[in-house]
Amino acid sequence: MEKMLEGKVCLITGAGRGIGRATALLFASEGAKLVLSDMDQQPLGEVVSQVKDQGGKAVGVVGDVTADGFAEGFVQRAVETFGPDIHVIVNNAGYTWDGVVHKMTDEQWEAMLRVHCTAPFRIIRAAAPYIRENAKRERAEGRVVMRKIVNVSSIAGTDGNAGQANYSTAKAGILGFTKTLAKEWGPLNVNVNAVAFGWIETRLTQPKKEETVIEKDGKRIPIGVPKEHLDVFRLMIPLGRPGTPEEAARVILFLASPLSDYVSGQVIKVTGGW
Ligand SMILES: NC(=O)c1ccc[n+]([C@@H]2O[C@H](COP(=O)([O-])OP(=O)(O)OC[C@H]3O[C@@H](n4cnc5c(N)ncnc54)[C@H](O)[C@@H]3O)[C@@H](O)[C@H]2O)c1
Repeated sequence: MEKMLEGKVCLITGAGRGIGRATALLFASEGAKLVLSDMDQQPLGEVVSQVKDQGGKAVGVVGDVTADGFAEGFVQRAVETFGPDIHVIVNNAGYTWDGVVHKMTDEQWEAMLRVHCTAPFRIIRAAAPYIRENAKRERAEGRVVMRKIVNVSSIAGTDGNAGQANYSTAKAGILGFTKTLAKEWGPLNVNVNAVAFGWIETRLTQPKKEETVIEKDGKRIPIGVPKEHLDVFRLMIPLGRPGTPEEAARVILFLASPLSDYVSGQVIKVTGGW
């Protein structure tokens, strides 16, 4: 059977761990040419090596997706490495910075909008020339080549979650962006969709411990979920367990592959039924 992403240039952010890492490895097994990014060099390097060891093609771009100029550099690296065409973008990089509304700082609020909304917007804008010009040429030639954008959201965005006003606002915001871009770029054969995950077992959803932090801009930001919340989540999930990063990645592959060529502007909840 032909591989689903054979020769497709795929950009994935936050590819060093968790869902992004599993997506990178799955895409590699489907023949993708990968442009992977993460703000942490070591895990990113390991994923790039793993893809190459398995005979795949990957290049790594270390950087913070919220940094000025990151989006342009990321897209430029893709073009320099694999040529002036981009087929798939997975906006996955993200983290949480929880707090109740009455104690939330401006910095905490804005950090979530920047990483979950502004960064995907900037990456897509930077990639626009390579997507739109190729699509227009193909249209003039009477050819149909589908391209794909997958934005990673959360059920905190679709349904709200106490203690995550900043995160849930940002994860809802990216859904508005997804639906609008589906309308703007549909005529150019770009499918634009989002996945809203429930509880996927990654670093982000480990039981909260003192030492589970993200180090960013000189700050130590605590991540993880209180154990008693995880116990409640488990009860609310009909399948009775969290999802694995590999299970999460398969839905992203669906939205990046020809299997979803007639799906656009949608949000798929991947929650084990929660
Ligand atoms: N795990 C879940 O249950 C769950 C649920 C809903 C949504 N999500 C979303 O899935 C995405 C992936 O999360 P995960 O669970 O795999 O977490 P993770 O911590 O295992 O992996 C996220 C990766 O993104 C990178 N990253 C974070 N912020 C970055 C930045 N500013 N610039 C560059 N890289 C950055 C991290 O270094 C890390 O390697 C996130 O957008 C998250 O909000 C996760």
